[in-house]
Amino acid sequence: MTAHGKHKAAGTLALDLLRGEHQRVRNLFGEFDSLKGLDDEDERKAELVDEICYELTLHTMIEEEIFYPVLRSAIGDDDLMDEADVEHAGARELISQLEVMYPGDDHFDATVAVLGEEVGHHMDKEEGEMFDAARRAGIDFERLGEQLAARRAELEEDLSSPAGTIDAMEPHEGARRARRPPD
Ligand SMILES: [Fe+2]
Repeated sequence: MTAHGKHKAAGTLALDLLRGEHQRVRNLFGEFDSLKGLDDEDERKAELVDEICYELTLHTMIEEEIFYPVLRSAIGDDDLMDEADVEHAGARELISQLEVMYPGDDHFDATVAVLGEEVGHHMDKEEGEMFDAARRAGIDFERLGEQLAARRAELEEDLSSPAGTIDAMEPHEGARRARRPPD
């Protein structure tokens, strides 16, 4: 027991991991932004949008399956968590539009820009209000970080298999795993 009392959060792994993913996404949007209006950069724009969609899909899935359920029960702020759910749904909607668009299409740049603005706002709120509440709730961030990393690795493996695809529009149920067959 430390002098900080029983609500001292353990470690920072989960928060570091999520913040790192946020930064990766911010960098991708930043690079896209620097190419806006350049018509000869379509190939790079397409690559960046593929990466953005991939990163955001994995990121929102591990948050919704593992991070959000823990937070919702620990911080007692359903309004904050409900808003985060709606923001994720909004991002998924724009991602699903981008998955069938190409650079040069009508509203392509605008769709990426709006996704970037909305996701940016969402990530700032997570890193601020949500992470602060999580720290106060005394969550074990080391253990949670290990769970997030393990689930991410599992999803990456699924996606790299030949048939691997995750439909961004599919609603993600909490920790949807294959059921164990009865013994
Ligand atoms: Fe999020």
